[in-house]
Amino acid sequence: MPDSWVKKLFRKNVEALEPYKPILPFEVLAENLGRRPEEIVKLDANENPYGPSPKVLEALASYPYYHIYPDPQQKRLRKALSGYVSVPADNLLVGSGADELIDLLVRLFVEPGEYVVNFPPTFGMYEFDAEIGGGRVLSIPRRNDFSLDVDAAVQEITRLSPPPKLLFVTSPNNPDGGVLPPDELERLIELPIVVVVDEAYNEFSGAPSFAPKVLERENLVVLRTFSKWAGLAGLRLGYGVFPQAMLDGLWKIKQPYNVNVAATVAGLAALEDMPYYRKTIDAIISERERLYRELQEVPYLRPFPSKANFVLCRVVGRDAYGLKKALEEEGIIVRHYHKPGLENMIRISVGRPEQNEIVLERLKQLV
Ligand SMILES: Cc1ncc(COP(=O)(O)O)c(C=O)c1O
Repeated sequence: MPDSWVKKLFRKNVEALEPYKPILPFEVLAENLGRRPEEIVKLDANENPYGPSPKVLEALASYPYYHIYPDPQQKRLRKALSGYVSVPADNLLVGSGADELIDLLVRLFVEPGEYVVNFPPTFGMYEFDAEIGGGRVLSIPRRNDFSLDVDAAVQEITRLSPPPKLLFVTSPNNPDGGVLPPDELERLIELPIVVVVDEAYNEFSGAPSFAPKVLERENLVVLRTFSKWAGLAGLRLGYGVFPQAMLDGLWKIKQPYNVNVAATVAGLAALEDMPYYRKTIDAIISERERLYRELQEVPYLRPFPSKANFVLCRVVGRDAYGLKKALEEEGIIVRHYHKPGLENMIRISVGRPEQNEIVLERLKQLV
């Protein structure tokens, strides 16, 4: 097809972006394999295999006001969250997933051509949003064991002129599941840069959240989400703990109706049903440990210890993509990687015990 003249009107940085590579939706994979969607063992996106609690589903079904626009300030949800993360509601802002808040932070701070600091391998949205926002990415690669090279970060950040304004660090990190030691965060927040700690997987880690620390610092943000522990990935609900000065800017640029009513209803009901969620979170943690132990017994896999709801594995002596495809033929979906720092790897999200059993059995048979 000839290139349309309209494309020439795109912003310059859009032209340089890689086209989006859509994943195969699991319903389509099920159809291709002649199976029912519920027979697919979907362990590729760190979703919660238990889904939302029954009380959340009831609250969604009985809510009578879907025809009314949402509260732009999300007052009830922020009040409930304030109890959950032990910070004042005034320091909270809710988003359509943590993803939206990453985008808002880039929009608030990054001018075209300015740098955002990133620690790859990690979650892809920091780089994605920085580039869409017209920024550039300063990558400080993690070491082979996925720990941060804080000395390199300090050196690079202080060397750049103009200095970068925004830094993203993930704890537990996706895709390896390692947590950020508090002393390393201390060193990062001493720098004249806004440090965003993405704690999407905090509930599975047993590590204390850095959220209360936001109240002591002008340059620290903590992002959290309902996608993982609460099983609400499809409804898109995340939030951040921000210092007051930053909120003055964020409230100005946030779309008023950024969070839909169903997500709010579900989030509130989830926070009221913590005994249920405590059980499913504990089940995921104990299955993660079992998965890690048993993956160590698969001769061609080298799993990394994880504090999240997934286990990353180096594949040795065979092709990780071929392995992913072989599992896919059996209706098992895992995430495959082959890029710097993640050569020949797969990541397996923690499923229900019976799903983990299926993937483990298949991996052991594939020797
Ligand atoms: C580190 C990290 N942050 C954020 C997200 C996305 O969170 P949300 O679904 O709330 O946008 C993910 C999802 O995989 C993630 O891995």
